[in-house]
Amino acid sequence: MERRTIGATALDVGAVGLGCMPMHWAYSRSQQRGDLSLRAVHAALDAGVSLLDTADMYGPFTNELLLGRVLKERRADVFVSTKCGLLVGDGHVVANGRPEYVRRACDSSLRRLQTDVIDLYLLHRADPEVPVEETWGAMAQLVAAGKVRALGLSAVGVRTAGVRGARRPRSGDLYEGTIRQLDRVQQVFPVAAVQAELSVWAPEALERLLPWCVARGIGLLAAMPLGSGFLTGTLTPGGGFEPDDPRARHPRFTAEMMAANQPLVAGLRRVAARHGDGVTAAQVALAWVLGQGRHVVPVPGTKRERWAVENAGAAGLRLTAGDLAELSALPAARGSWD
Ligand SMILES: NC(=O)c1ccc[n+]([C@@H]2O[C@H](COP(=O)([O-])OP(=O)(O)OC[C@H]3O[C@@H](n4cnc5c(N)ncnc54)[C@H](OP(=O)(O)O)[C@@H]3O)[C@@H](O)[C@H]2O)c1
Repeated sequence: MERRTIGATALDVGAVGLGCMPMHWAYSRSQQRGDLSLRAVHAALDAGVSLLDTADMYGPFTNELLLGRVLKERRADVFVSTKCGLLVGDGHVVANGRPEYVRRACDSSLRRLQTDVIDLYLLHRADPEVPVEETWGAMAQLVAAGKVRALGLSAVGVRTAGVRGARRPRSGDLYEGTIRQLDRVQQVFPVAAVQAELSVWAPEALERLLPWCVARGIGLLAAMPLGSGFLTGTLTPGGGFEPDDPRARHPRFTAEMMAANQPLVAGLRRVAARHGDGVTAAQVALAWVLGQGRHVVPVPGTKRERWAVENAGAAGLRLTAGDLAELSALPAARGSWD
């Protein structure tokens, strides 16, 4: 698999990563099984994936425990990215960015992951009660202590964060607050990577965030590159989600909006068909993300061996400039995000 570099610190990973969240969080919970997830992780690594993206809150804790079993056996094959800063309570999630908490969280993640160093440690969400420089300073000390190799910031929550403010951000403004936050933490310790949503139906990170990263040699880990499964074309409008699946309450996943956004899936399938029989809409969706430049590493999430292998295969798919332009010109997705 093609390799890509994350950040000026020259962290080297396979071009497609594996998002491990669906194994223990969010989607289709009734189908979350440790043995199946373990097979998916091994299959991804065998296919050349190295970046495994997890977080202490996935489960909580169980996803790191599962990856610990993998790291114990094949540490050299894995680039592990985990996150701190969000605590799961009874039916809610809260931020904690206090330095003493961050230090404890890192030690706990190291224990669960059965490793002595985390390759990339991401701040999941900044804590509104704690200046971000304080949290970041504590994370920088973890690098100095040799517990962490590089630091990253997650900007995935920006859409919902914007809703609470007085002004709903326009697409170009979506990452304005993130960039301000990044500028602040850069004064304390270099950012190696930013994790943000990026896909054919959520391209806003291309406007200001990616150029900001490229100018500084910072990697962009593309979360939700498959549009939470929608862009794969395997979800049936009106097919129904399990009650605790966030898509069951998401306005973009109502039967009506899923039907309205089918032109996006059709566009991905059209390009896939030009690249041969076995090529899927999911692979084209990932190849479009890869096509946004060498600083970008998509981390498609799955708990299934078959899809982990299929997604890894996207690294070998070469879209033409015409394909990329055609996909970028697909009609904008319809439906609110919140
Ligand atoms: N920092 C943050 O706050 C944050 C937030 C969201 C995501 N992330 C990271 O980004 C990763 C990716 O995002 P995501 O998992 O939310 O969304 P995603 O990658 O866009 O989509 C995942 C969904 O697509 C399905 N899928 C995967 N490959 C498929 C294929 N080839 N064909 C058909 N369906 C396929 C999966 O099904 P199954 O579940 O059935 O396998 C899962 O439901 C996460 O796993 C996580 O590591 C980070």
